[in-house]
Amino acid sequence: MTQDKWSQDSYIKAYKFAANVHRGQMVPGTDIPYIMHLSFVSMEIIAALNTEQGCNENLAVQCALLHDVVEDTDVTYQQVMDEFGSAVAEGVLALSKDKTLPKPMQLGDSLRRIRQQPPEIWMVKMADRITNLQPPPSYWTKDKIERYQAKAVEILNALGEASNFLASRLREKINTYNSHE
Ligand code: NI
Repeated sequence: MTQDKWSQDSYIKAYKFAANVHRGQMVPGTDIPYIMHLSFVSMEIIAALNTEQGCNENLAVQCALLHDVVEDTDVTYQQVMDEFGSAVAEGVLALSKDKTLPKPMQLGDSLRRIRQQPPEIWMVKMADRITNLQPPPSYWTKDKIERYQAKAVEILNALGEASNFLASRLREKINTYNSHE
């Protein structure tokens, strides 16, 4: 039976696209190129795909690499659609915050739209937050750290059922996040 196994070629295509459009951007609070974030998110996804069965793996891997191109660069939904097809474009759009909404509503709105997408997109959001729960930038206040942790719990509660593997990894990251000082 044909599986939608991820391929090196589809990974490279999405990685190159992302590296090109995120050029010059850095991981916040560092001088490390932003593409590192995308490498980590896609690595979390590939680790999960070793365990989770029946996934559209190319959809998951490409959305992992492209999840910030609409939110953080000049790339449009239409361009993602033309290059990677509608499933990837819809996924990336759901993973993008609607910046026309008041900030406190943005996460809930995105989670609601992600839940209308296939489970692969839910997995990318969890992989993104797992990656972002590394030690926070030194200039973050305790209050900001706690709010970020609370949002991670919201993500886990909304999306955890899409992948036991990622849900348990996210839970572990949430539980140890406070210990970074
Ligand atoms: Ni991200």
